[in-house]
Amino acid sequence: MKQDKILVIDLGSTRNTYIAREIRELGVYTEIHPHDISTDELSKITNIKGIVLNGGENRVVDGVEIKPSEALMEAGLPILSVDFDGGMPWPKEECLRIQRMKEFVFDTCKAEPNWNMENFITEQVALIREQVGDGKVLLALSGGVDSSVVAALLIKAIGKQLTCVHVNHGLLRKGEPEEVIRVFREEMGANLVYVDAVDRFLDKLEGVADPEEKRLIIGSEFIRVFEDEARKLEDVKFLAQGTIYPDIIESGTKTVKAVKSHHNVGGLPEDLEFELVEPLKMLFKDEVRECGLALGLPRSMVFRQPFPGPGLGVRCIGAITRDRLEAVRESDAILREEFAMAGMEGKVWQYFTLVPEVKSVGVRDHKRSFEWPVVIRAVNTVDAMTATVERVPYDVLEIITHRITHEVKGVNRVLYDLTPKPVGTIEWE
Ligand code: XMP
Repeated sequence: MKQDKILVIDLGSTRNTYIAREIRELGVYTEIHPHDISTDELSKITNIKGIVLNGGENRVVDGVEIKPSEALMEAGLPILSVDFDGGMPWPKEECLRIQRMKEFVFDTCKAEPNWNMENFITEQVALIREQVGDGKVLLALSGGVDSSVVAALLIKAIGKQLTCVHVNHGLLRKGEPEEVIRVFREEMGANLVYVDAVDRFLDKLEGVADPEEKRLIIGSEFIRVFEDEARKLEDVKFLAQGTIYPDIIESGTKTVKAVKSHHNVGGLPEDLEFELVEPLKMLFKDEVRECGLALGLPRSMVFRQPFPGPGLGVRCIGAITRDRLEAVRESDAILREEFAMAGMEGKVWQYFTLVPEVKSVGVRDHKRSFEWPVVIRAVNTVDAMTATVERVPYDVLEIITHRITHEVKGVNRVLYDLTPKPVGTIEWE
């Protein structure tokens, strides 16, 4: 069954996702699109039942007034104009607003509440088959939640036309490449190619301290590695990616500037030879997990904590060195072990360590030491747009501190980051 859609049009509000989610929670699928969408683009979207024009604080961008395109106004679809920029409404106002939205969606647009994962998967499987035909698809399988769910979706849609490529860029967590090989090659029977590209990445990153530059290097090097693999495989036309909705929003829209570029959105090289397949790009993180479960992936995989594409590279702050990178990897392994021992695994959304580029004085074996600190970050969130800090019990922190300062080479201090998002982001870079 085709699912009904309501389009949320971005007229300069920073709260488009809030509206989109609110309608999805009523059981109707939504997509957010820019104000200047063309007739051609609009005609490619099926089953549109109505349009919500969402105005907000960014009404004028670079001197140009943000107005809905003619295509939208002449589409002959029901239109609701709202001005929702996130100021705290009174509960009574909020009830009225939600009531108005319900009436628009169900009475005016006559949309069916048929947004559920089964329908989403059915539609995506059809879209993937239509896009790909009998072509071959390469997937960057990092082993994180997003790429694992994409792999499962693609295996369902096109089976053996998919080749998963796992690149070890040297920025993975301890034991991760081995785990990916075991789960996907051995248990799921996927077509998996393992590429050891550790030196290639670390050589390119040598001396590069700027976070955005690091991300761009990692992103473009990633694509080049795939291009090399694709050439070996012959006739690969498509590249699948686990891009999800927050990645797209944080890379900036036409009315809101980028917070930071994500490697799988902003960093593609210009000479890219692939057409992209991104079936999760309209899903929020919690919906991606739900999709994974509906596809039959094990809970342990679906609820595994997220891991950024640039990996430990953005947690080895500043210019990456091999020894400091090892300190990140080893301290992260200890943190994960101790969280599991304390029964916190799966309860905290994301937890990791990072090592900044500073040294401090300490004392070890009656001698002066001059070594790095390890910073622990542990946060909870629903969609990664905002986050609160986990209240890790002090005794757990003490055990972790003892282990890190005694087992990790070059580390003499452990700190706990108490900053929520905002003001901080989850990662430090
Ligand atoms: P921030 O630091 O933006 O992180 O609050 C939000 C979530 O996104 C992850 N993250 C990334 N994921 N490529 C990714 O695929 C990236 O460049 C990237 N940067 C951050 C981060 O780990 C957190 O879960």
